[in-house]
Amino acid sequence: MSAFSKRNLLGIRDLSREEIEVILDVADSFKDISLRDIKKVPTLRGKTVIHFFYEPSTRTRLSFEIAAKRLSADTVSLSASSSSMEKGETLLDTVRNLEAMRPDVLVLRHPMAGSARFVADRVGTSVVNAGDGSHEHPTQALLDVLTVLDHKKRVDGLNISIVGDIANSRVARSAILAFSKLGAHVTVAGPPCMLPPEPETLGIRVTYRLDEAIEDADVIMMLRLQLERQQDPVFPSLREYSREYGLNRHRLRKAPKDVIILHPGPINRGVEIDPEVADGPYSVILDQVTNGVAVRMAVLYLLLGGRDT
Ligand code: CP
Repeated sequence: MSAFSKRNLLGIRDLSREEIEVILDVADSFKDISLRDIKKVPTLRGKTVIHFFYEPSTRTRLSFEIAAKRLSADTVSLSASSSSMEKGETLLDTVRNLEAMRPDVLVLRHPMAGSARFVADRVGTSVVNAGDGSHEHPTQALLDVLTVLDHKKRVDGLNISIVGDIANSRVARSAILAFSKLGAHVTVAGPPCMLPPEPETLGIRVTYRLDEAIEDADVIMMLRLQLERQQDPVFPSLREYSREYGLNRHRLRKAPKDVIILHPGPINRGVEIDPEVADGPYSVILDQVTNGVAVRMAVLYLLLGGRDT
């Protein structure tokens, strides 16, 4: 049994392979709670978790809230539009006021890269990064890895292809780090303007051709175009993007027969992925969502002093 001694979860970059494996082991042990009639254990009774989401979210916000409730923590939620940031209060003043109410964990989503670390450096409450701009989304990467493990029983040595708007994607950044730390061979594919500027520093393979990325892939992760983070349109039209980089059933025939398809959501059906692929037999997209609850339970539990079992 080894302790998880981190106070915050700000990014996959900060985690060792062993720490990632501890979180995944605990998440795996928590899955069963969500299958019971009474989906609640007293583990975090008396703890308070604040979810502060300054950007829209369906999966991350609700699965964090469900995770905290299944562990019996008290939860409250704040969105930018319902906070006094609408009246000009700064992020720092806001989180200092939240800290004054003595929560145990602050789960933060914010459009500024580095915002989670900025806050963690200035408050005593544990901070979990639920997505900071185009920087990191660590719990998404952890649930992605857990889903791959469920279906492939290993990550080490797998070929994992991540396709789409890599440069603007916090999901891609965290996934590349997590899968690489666990020994996978990561390929990124997309138009040149959407790929990271110095891929060699990440130790990943780069291709501009979707077919090349999928022909030997054990796992394909499709990404949404992050239009909200692109300064100018970088592709002539969504139709052209889809023709070059969209995953449809014809293209999927080039992949190995036991490939699995991931997507962090939200999906833009008919752009990066066709409905028949998203809803088809190779898709594990809803398994990712289910695993998001277990991973977030594990993160809250470990940050609040729990030990792996
Ligand atoms: N994957 C993900 O972060 O989804 P939400 O934006 O809905 O939370």
